[in-house]
Amino acid sequence: MPHEHTHRGEAIEGRHSRVYDRLARLLMKPHYRRIATDIAASAPDGAALLDVGTGPGILLKTLARIRPDLRLAGVDLARDMIDHARRNLAGLDGLELHAADVAALPFEDDRFDLVVSSYSSHHWGDPEAGSAEIARILRPGGRFINYDFPRAPLDALTRRSGLTLVRQTPFRSPFMKTTRFEAAAN
Ligand SMILES: C[S@@+](CC[C@H](N)C(=O)[O-])C[C@H]1O[C@@H](n2cnc3c(N)ncnc32)[C@H](O)[C@@H]1O
Repeated sequence: MPHEHTHRGEAIEGRHSRVYDRLARLLMKPHYRRIATDIAASAPDGAALLDVGTGPGILLKTLARIRPDLRLAGVDLARDMIDHARRNLAGLDGLELHAADVAALPFEDDRFDLVVSSYSSHHWGDPEAGSAEIARILRPGGRFINYDFPRAPLDALTRRSGLTLVRQTPFRSPFMKTTRFEAAAN
């Protein structure tokens, strides 16, 4: 199964997930380090952090190295990506990984201090439903920081979701033209 297009989103499976995993691990380290450093600057001490659409989990791996105090979790629609993430993150204590749609997150209300995502929101089948779920699992005042291409449906993320835009700015990344979108849970 390569890209599986469903109403829930575009899951990157099979051979495509293997190629993505290899590129992320071998070529893209400076890119994840740049994003992880930016996230680390906003994360409160000991924060519970969820990465949505984590893919092979390299952002989580980088975050674990630079901020070992964080309590990390990841979800991805693609089971194959979660399998890669499990291998890449083996040995990390307390880490939670689930195959799940952003629009149906397997977590209780107010569970996280911070939700992050990179290059995933343009794949989501229903970004409004996804951001409503993110608002539900964030504690009041918790932040959602999303790094994605400027063409991603960023306006939809605050349309009916319980998230209020804090700022939307260009983000300097070594590889890709990126927008950094930050919103707060009401
Ligand atoms: C381009 S990859 C980005 C992976 C990783 N965040 C990174 O920066 O390397 C996009 C990921 O979003 C996942 N995805 C697509 N739709 C999704 C949804 N509705 N819910 C959760 N994950 C989704 C895909 O399976 C894929 O792993």
